[in-house]
Amino acid sequence: MPTFYSQQIPEQKLATAWLVMLAAVGVIWLGSCGKEESEQHGSGEVEQSLVPQLPSVPFEYSLLGFPEEWLTDPALQLFGNIGSDIGITDDGATLGRVLFYDPILSSDGAVSCASCHSQANAFADDAPHSIGVSGVPTERNAMGLFNFRYQRRFFWDMRTVGLEEQVLEPIAHPDEMALNLEDLPGRLAAQSYYPELFGAAFESTDVTVERVASALTQFLMSMRSYSSRYDAGRVNGFVNFSESELAGKSIFFNGDSRCNQCHSGLNLFSNQPFINGLEVDYEAAGDGGIGELSGDPFDDGRFKTVSLRNIGLTAPYMHDGRFSSLREVVDFYADDIQHHPFLDERLGVSGFGTPGQAPFQLTLSDEERMALVDFLNTFNDTLMTSSWWLSDPF
Ligand code: HEC
Ligand code: HEC
Repeated sequence: MPTFYSQQIPEQKLATAWLVMLAAVGVIWLGSCGKEESEQHGSGEVEQSLVPQLPSVPFEYSLLGFPEEWLTDPALQLFGNIGSDIGITDDGATLGRVLFYDPILSSDGAVSCASCHSQANAFADDAPHSIGVSGVPTERNAMGLFNFRYQRRFFWDMRTVGLEEQVLEPIAHPDEMALNLEDLPGRLAAQSYYPELFGAAFESTDVTVERVASALTQFLMSMRSYSSRYDAGRVNGFVNFSESELAGKSIFFNGDSRCNQCHSGLNLFSNQPFINGLEVDYEAAGDGGIGELSGDPFDDGRFKTVSLRNIGLTAPYMHDGRFSSLREVVDFYADDIQHHPFLDERLGVSGFGTPGQAPFQLTLSDEERMALVDFLNTFNDTLMTSSWWLSDPF
């Protein structure tokens, strides 16, 4: 059985709020001379001035589950249980939560995972390209993070296999957190709060790169999203839907739009990457996706088919964040799909089975386009984005 929790702020957190405020004043004061200071010491050592505020009894991450229906959904069984098989413990995921929000994991002590993956945006970035330590924008858009039980390959070009592998990449990436992984254990062990957190999560207080990867993975595996108005509608026969949302739902699921042929099942995604026709020649346009890895024209512009859950919260859209609104996405699918030589057949005039077709034209009226946008917004989670156990503990 899944466990649902209402949003609550642990008392301890309230009681110490004033302390955090004092600490914040300290940060501002330090900030005015902080740069000079670290240059003076020249040691490259960075110390975190805040400490995480955690409940005295850890949240029961280990009890979080997916609804029964997810565990039996045929489409999900197809992709089923391919995510990390790492065991989630309450103390392990708690440590992962602290690590996820801690800027100490970056070389300059200023960038955390959450700098680019914000909870309010279902852990996506609201900028088309993210800015990390180097100030050089990332090449691609930071997508939302959730439902990793059903995912094994990561990034828009699906280059990394396994969440435990993935979580270390942003730490070392020169434009993201730029911290040498060899320096990571020492950096963490020097913070007052980590030895105890590692001790609770693992058998000893030793800080290792593998333990960091495990704890972050446990926390990411706890980002589960299945509570939306769409889910409520599926139970109550959609009495909670407006006329427009109902009209949008028919467009999404009718065979003409083919949306659900790729964004399918309860997670509204696919673990197959597709070419959805943003460009005639992606490589020439600057990003060939999987094609850049395989060198095969058949893969030019093939990208991960991300979930449409929370889609109203994760703007801007596509691998490069080119569309700033869902209306722009719908306009693209309705009349601007490009005639790529390997455009997926589901987006061609006669559908799946005939290769090399011209793109379809959906001929949707203005009202129908608005209806589809309204329906897409019903996928927004009403729980994950406000759950305190996924929020910033600092
Ligand atoms: C500077 C911004 C930045 C920071 C910091 C950052 N990320 Fe990301 N993240 C991105 C971008 C951009 C992508 C997409 C990159 C791509 O596909 O090539 C991404 C992708 C991901 C993905 C892949 C999701 C999927 O569906 O394939 C995961 C998981 C992830 N990040 C976790 C993390 C974790 C954990 C941290 C901290 C250790 C972190 N990120 C720090 C920008 C960032
Ligand atoms: C052939 C499979 C396919 C079909 C059919 C399809 N999509 Fe997509 N969709 C994709 C792929 C692949 C991406 C990512 C492409 C990229 O970023 O380059 C995507 C991206 C998106 C995104 C942006 C996701 C994000 O987080 O940035 C939205 C929104 C979307 N699709 C909605 C729809 C709607 C609405 C329809 C029906 C009109 C539809 N899709 C039909 C494969 C498909």
